[in-house]
Amino acid sequence: MGLRNKVKLEFLSRPENVALARVTVATVAAEVDFNLSDIEEIKVAVSEAVSNAVIHGYEEQTNGIITLTVKLYTDRLEIIIEDAGKGIEDLNRALQPGSGSDPERMGLGFVFMKSFMDEVDVWTEVGKGTRVKLVKSLPGVCKIQNCVRN
Ligand SMILES: Nc1ncnc2c1ncn2[C@@H]1O[C@H](COP(=O)(O)OP(=O)(O)O)[C@@H](O)[C@H]1O
Ligand SMILES: [Mg+2]
Repeated sequence: MGLRNKVKLEFLSRPENVALARVTVATVAAEVDFNLSDIEEIKVAVSEAVSNAVIHGYEEQTNGIITLTVKLYTDRLEIIIEDAGKGIEDLNRALQPGSGSDPERMGLGFVFMKSFMDEVDVWTEVGKGTRVKLVKSLPGVCKIQNCVRN
């Protein structure tokens, strides 16, 4: 369906840039009548995906490239977060709660993404990188997977 707006941003894998990604997405999302809790949920999902690229994809090296693409369509908001980091060996396992390798972390990033967004798709290749697509249908639209909006 019709593309209303598109923003593409490339930034280094510095933890400070998580906030930049979050604000960018929230600014585009605010063009349509998402309510405040939708916007908060979208921001959390984006933060989790970008943090994963920084922490896991690039293992906290700050010279990796992360690309954020935000597309606002007439029926949905699509967000793509890409890194060219180490990739995920066992994706099915990574998507489950508590799968993280680091005992300090809860392993809930993908769980939050899946619960806050209507669609979450992940492509990954070991040694090549990871791409996460997050989709939320616009208020009043309910056409895609897991949509509970009315
Ligand atoms: N962009 C990424 N690059 C490499 N590995 C990733 C990436 N995103 C997630 N992972 C892997 O998936 C696991 C689960 O991610 P997540 O649910 O966010 O939990 P957490 O980040 O707390 O470990 C991570 O521990 C990591 O092993
Ligand atoms: Mg995480």
